[in-house]
Amino acid sequence: MTEIVSLPIEHWDETCSPQQQDTALRALEGGSVVLLPHLAFPLDATELRFLDPRLADAGKNISLNPVDGALQGSRDNLEPLRGMIERYAKSSATLLRQLLPRYVPTIQTGRTSFRPVEVEGRTTSWRKDDTRLHVDSFPSSPTQGRRILRLFTNVHPASRPRTWRLGESFEGVARRYLPSLHRPVWGSSAVLQALGITKSRRSAYDHFMLQLHDQMKADAAYQAQAPQHTQEFAPGSTWLVYTDQVSHAAMAGQHLFEQTFYLPIEGMGDASTSPLRVLERLLRRELV
Ligand code: SIN
Ligand code: FE
Repeated sequence: MTEIVSLPIEHWDETCSPQQQDTALRALEGGSVVLLPHLAFPLDATELRFLDPRLADAGKNISLNPVDGALQGSRDNLEPLRGMIERYAKSSATLLRQLLPRYVPTIQTGRTSFRPVEVEGRTTSWRKDDTRLHVDSFPSSPTQGRRILRLFTNVHPASRPRTWRLGESFEGVARRYLPSLHRPVWGSSAVLQALGITKSRRSAYDHFMLQLHDQMKADAAYQAQAPQHTQEFAPGSTWLVYTDQVSHAAMAGQHLFEQTFYLPIEGMGDASTSPLRVLERLLRRELV
């Protein structure tokens, strides 16, 4: 069962003790969720109007590109909206420096997203349906083994929690699907990259992770019967999780911020817990 490890941090720039840093690192790498129940992201009075699903084109997320600072996913390309999301990106970076200093030399900043659309009742294809248990892996963004670390904050103005399901361990998931995972077709990575389907080379690791993601989501019996429990994240709380490792599904909730970080496994405290190393051990081959 995925454990929830809570820390009493209240400010984004709070100085964390070595014990808190150690607890967070071990918990995350061990496949737990680190919950900061008292870390809120307050919006100012003029920003409350952004808690509106109509701002998000096609009922999706609004996100900030860390390279050029451009906003994507909203026709209302308002500077104050961009500023609010950028403030979350900066707050996330500050927290990371305090809580996970070990990651600072190697971590890379990914996109920041604002999710003002209610999750419950949203319609998508099965592959994009995040109400199904899955580990994160994205067709167009290969990580080549880097970790996907995500920080979330529920900013619902009333009491609506973000409701997730949390599933079994990464090794449990991997062992279950191992017999039905197949090897990449020789040469396919180069073709995908040449066609612009992937932004960088899809490694054997990415290939296996995409299959895990898809096979979990497509398997109705697994969705119903896999070991799992429901976890509610209250408004005013923040949580961190390695979403490439922890089986998760978002069932309900509205108004969320999310920051993605990528970490090369060499930057981890213990790389043997990474999905790359677990898959390599189970498949008895290198997945570069
Ligand atoms: C996900 O990462 O699958 C969705 C998380 C969320 O929007 O709550
Ligand atoms: Fe996900």
